[in-house]
Amino acid sequence: MKTVETFGKPGAKNLVIEADNIDALNYLNKEYSGKIDVITIDPPYNTDISYIGYKDSNYSEGWGKFMGDRLTLAKGLLSPTGVMFINIDENELVCLLNICYSLFGISNVNVLVWPKVNPRFDQNRVEKPIFNIRSTHEFIVLCYNDKPNTHFGNTIDGKPMESIVAGYGTTSSAKDEICELLGDRKCFSTPKPVALVREMIRVASKKNSIILDFFAGSGTAGHATMALNKEDGGNRRFILVTNNESDICRKVTIPRLKVAIEREDLDSGFVFMTMLD
Ligand SMILES: C[S@@+](CC[C@H](N)C(=O)[O-])C[C@H]1O[C@@H](n2cnc3c(N)ncnc32)[C@H](O)[C@@H]1O
Repeated sequence: MKTVETFGKPGAKNLVIEADNIDALNYLNKEYSGKIDVITIDPPYNTDISYIGYKDSNYSEGWGKFMGDRLTLAKGLLSPTGVMFINIDENELVCLLNICYSLFGISNVNVLVWPKVNPRFDQNRVEKPIFNIRSTHEFIVLCYNDKPNTHFGNTIDGKPMESIVAGYGTTSSAKDEICELLGDRKCFSTPKPVALVREMIRVASKKNSIILDFFAGSGTAGHATMALNKEDGGNRRFILVTNNESDICRKVTIPRLKVAIEREDLDSGFVFMTMLD
């Protein structure tokens, strides 16, 4: 592991790790085993319509093995009442649920629904004639280490989170956010909205929790953690892991976090490390 740069507030303990996440998870298990309160991940969905063409053929033993190996390591990082939110669409929902049931037990797994689009428009805001049932939602699989002893806080409007997680942005609004920060709506095709990730962190974290996203993409989980700290005076830390596929880490994740810190006056910073050099 090599430090590439530190940015922002001196002494900030947030980490961005450029690595294959299997290597990063093995590394993190040495220091953070049982210490992470919230994991939010948004893995490749194993569909051929995604920006990066994830198909089973990209993984020597299939998507299920790829995810199972990583989720097993991730479970070891969770604190006794820690939780993991996993975004997924219907393509691999069943495969993912089977992995989660076997790792956490069926009574420690919930499925939430995230309405991801306005049904009349595509994600680039182009109006579409509708001839068929439009797919307008995705899922968030929620895994608890110990559901009976895990107590969630309320969302921003003072209410408990509901299983339909509506009103916290869409795929389009997430792209607007990236465009606003980096001036390019197309630099990354599958971001999640800051508000959605911020609410998951808000309800499931304490003010000093460590938040991990090991499929960090454009870095939304880091942005959301810092924004939530600014809002409620919290001292949460984030650890983000992303590979550098299509230059994402160095051309999108790092610049996005820097711009967010400066423009939104987030009084934060991070250490950028690599396992790839
Ligand atoms: C769907 S995107 C995550 C988007 C993120 N939620 C956001 O809001 O920007 C999945 C990301 O995981 C990264 N990724 C895929 N396989 C990986 C691996 N084995 N190790 C680390 N990162 C990986 C890809 O580069 C991609 O950017």
